[in-house]
This record gives sequence, structure tokens and C-alpha cells, in this order.
Amino acid sequence: MDGNFKSKWDELIQPGMVHGSLYYDDAIFKEEVEKIWFTTWVYIGHESEIPDRNDFVTKSIGPMPVLMVRDSNGEIQLLLNRCPHRGNAVCVQERGNRARFTCPYHSWTFSNTGDLINYAFPEGYKGTDKSGLGLGKVTRTASYRGFVFGSMAAEGPTLEEHLGGAKRCIDQLCDNSPTGEIEISAGFLKHRTRANWKFILENECDGYHPAFVHSSIFSVADSAIGDLYGNDAVAVTRSFGNGHVEVDPRPEFRRRDKPMSWFGTSAEKLPDYVAQMNAAYGEERARQIMIDGSPHTMIFPNLFIAEIQIFVIQPVSANESIQHSTAIQFKGAPDINRRLRQQTMGSVGPAGFLLADDTEMYERNQRGLEIRQPEYLYLKRGDFRERRDEDGFLIAHSTDDMPSREIWKHYRKMMEAK
Ligand code: FES
Repeated sequence: MDGNFKSKWDELIQPGMVHGSLYYDDAIFKEEVEKIWFTTWVYIGHESEIPDRNDFVTKSIGPMPVLMVRDSNGEIQLLLNRCPHRGNAVCVQERGNRARFTCPYHSWTFSNTGDLINYAFPEGYKGTDKSGLGLGKVTRTASYRGFVFGSMAAEGPTLEEHLGGAKRCIDQLCDNSPTGEIEISAGFLKHRTRANWKFILENECDGYHPAFVHSSIFSVADSAIGDLYGNDAVAVTRSFGNGHVEVDPRPEFRRRDKPMSWFGTSAEKLPDYVAQMNAAYGEERARQIMIDGSPHTMIFPNLFIAEIQIFVIQPVSANESIQHSTAIQFKGAPDINRRLRQQTMGSVGPAGFLLADDTEMYERNQRGLEIRQPEYLYLKRGDFRERRDEDGFLIAHSTDDMPSREIWKHYRKMMEAK
């Protein structure tokens, strides 16, 4: 091979620079669906969304609809929401409880393990073998601490290998619950966004924008969170590899040394929760958990743990995405749960400050790319001050572009794969 050969991806993704077409090109979007969304582990939903037998919720892997079901035996199934007859959706309800799904077009009926049970007017199918006419299934299913993921690839890393160091962030989140478990039970808000999914993905750990885009919520809420993203911040960004990144504010919270400062409150204002945490973990460990707080982590490609909420990114097309957001609930902790819901409404609800501001930025970015010059976006901020932490993970200042560079590095590896 010619030593000067450059692949398409060499041209599109250069050190600290990415080509604008990566965000708007329909052909690239189609390739992403195959090489990323139908290959890697994708977050589907949380086990607590389907607590009872026969519960179901409609979810997705990229643009593909998926049913997450707790079947009649209590096992979790990830079924493809496509009737094998002519392709109709067998379920269009967002959630519910049923042991069977009946396709609305010609009334074929399936069990909630995906098996075809009945046809309408069965005389016309005399001699037909039903066994090959069930619903498709997500090829591999695995969960970590209640977070359910699916992969359409028959082979590849296990979920735990895929998550790698980012498992610590899920552990950190669950440790904030006195029972060690979280629940996703507050219902989802869906924001349809006229922007490419990667603008959302990159923004989640972009610590450069909050001081400007979110200055209104920081001032109205009298929040000290803005200090995490200033020029003098001691918070860091970290890359775990595989596209997983975080903003780690623990150095700042440890400097403040005040339990519940991460939540903008004090231990005195949540006496029941603090008592539960002390009883569950012992006072010393509970104090450390309540100082460190909950993580701010983007798990590639679609799960954003945003301290008190989760966001799930769903790509629709090159120019359109849906953001699903909900309040995290700590199992068995009603006093903090009420505040978690209220803060979620204030930040990402229909009249909330935070998500509306971010979404406006995504959509302006997308519109801006209609202007084709300059061709590349610039992601070099802080590249000279990247370093390794004691575990070997790359870290940088909280306002640096390192998370985006790391996401693109992983993206390129996936897109170059045959
Ligand atoms: Fe489902 Fe015909 S498309 S029964």
C-alpha cells in the first residue's frame, strides 16, 4: 500500500479537528448506524422501569425501536419491535403491562418472549411452521447494577470490558443511594432536537460552555456549580477509553469538605437521607460519599449520567435527535427524591433553564454547518496540558476539549473497522 495513502477518516478526523460533514452527511449517518449503533453496547433502559412480570417499555437502539420486557417468568427480554409479517410495530404504547403483543395490522399475536402464538384466520396458514416467525431479539443483553444494555453484534467485548473504568461512575451513582440502588420511575421528558446526535454527545462533558450558556441558571439558583467550570477550577475531565468521558468535580467538592454541597444544599436540610446513609455505610464512608456526590459521566454512545438525571440520546437522522431525560431516584429515600424531581423540573423540564439553553446551542451549531467554510471544527483547547492520573486515565482541565478529542478517537476506530 502507498505509504501516503489517506483513508476517508484520516481526512475527516484530524488531530484536534473534525470535518463539518460528520454532523450532517446522510451517508455518514447510515454508516454510523451500522458501525456504531448496531455494533457497540447501547444503553436501553433500567431494570426498575419494568419491576413486575409482564411490564414493558418501548426503547431504541439508534433509530431502531426495541421493546424492553420483563417476561412472564420475570426475565428481561429485549425484543425488536417489528412484526415478522409485514414490518408493522407490534407495540406503539410507551409502557404498560401485558403478556402478549398483538400487531395492529393483521392481528398476529406474540408472547412477551417473542414467540408467535396465533394468526388471525389461521386456516390460511395451514401447515406453516410458527417457530421461525417470532419477534427478533437484540443479539446480546447484559446489565450492570440495573442498567440494561444491548448489542446487535454477536461477538465483541463483554459489557464490563466495554464499560471499563466508567463502571466506577455507575458505582459512585449507586453509592449515593442508601440502599445501593437507583430507580428510574419519574417518567421521561422527550426533547426533539434538530441537531446531530454527536453535538449532544460532545456537549455532555464540554466544561467550556457552562460559564456562558448556563450563567442564567447559576445566577437565578445562586449555585456554586459554576465554579467547577471557571478558569481557576480544580475539577478535571477524564477519559476512560471506548468513548466514555467524565467531568470529575470531586477535587473541588473535597476542597469544600461539606456533605451535600454537590447538590447545592447541606446535610441539615436532608436529615432523613443523611441518617439512612450513615446507617447504611457508617458515618465516615457516608460522609465521603455525600462530599463526592454523584457523577457527571457520558457513557458512549448514548447514556449521560448528569448527577441527578439521566439523559438518553436517540439519533433519528443526520440532522435530528431525541433527548430523553428523567430524574434519578434513590431507592427508599423519599425526602431527597422529592428534591431530585423538583430540581430536574427546574433544569430540564418544559420550562427548565438547562436543557433548553443547551438545545438552542445544538440547533444553532447544526444550522451553522450550512455555512461550509471553514470546513473543520476546532477541538485543540488544552491539548498541551493533558496528563495521566494515578490509574493511567487521561485527564485535563475541566474546560478543555480532551473529552471531545477522545470521543472522536474512539468514533474513528469504530468507523474504520471493517
Ligand atoms: Fe403484523 Fe401483518 S404486519 S400482522
